[in-house]
Amino acid sequence: MKKIILIHGPNLNLLGKRDIKHYGNRTLTMLEDIVKKEAKKLKISIIAFQSNHEGALIDFLQKHRNADGIIINPGALTHYSFALHDALLDTNLPAIEVHLSNISKREKWRSFSVTAPACKKVISGKKVKGYLEALHYLNKILDAKHDFTESND
Ligand code: DQA
Repeated sequence: MKKIILIHGPNLNLLGKRDIKHYGNRTLTMLEDIVKKEAKKLKISIIAFQSNHEGALIDFLQKHRNADGIIINPGALTHYSFALHDALLDTNLPAIEVHLSNISKREKWRSFSVTAPACKKVISGKKVKGYLEALHYLNKILDAKHDFTESND
């Protein structure tokens, strides 16, 4: 069974209470449950983690280097955490960055992501659907990798 880690950064524990226009009305638990349900259909297990602390997110990434892939919404850390960028890169795992809101259509400072270069793809502005898209995209990457490894054995 493939193992994907689902990471949420600062303030995303307050989903459901944050600005509904940008982030939708689902709580983080609801969102994680939707992703887990879809993942089950794809025979993927999800290990979910949220923290308001940059270091805790980095510790978690380092601890789970044995996973198969990463879906991450780094919250505001997206825009300034070079440490999180490096931690993502150092896992050597395929990562997809997801944002509930469309970060290119908000304040100018939000349109730049320092973590994106460490990710295979950025999905922004599709609310919860963005996570499902990320899951399917990651699954395709992992299947392609698996086929390649098999044919080269
Ligand atoms: C966010 C966008 C960030 O700019 C913001 O700081 C967040 C959430 C999003 O999901 O749209 O906390 O990552």
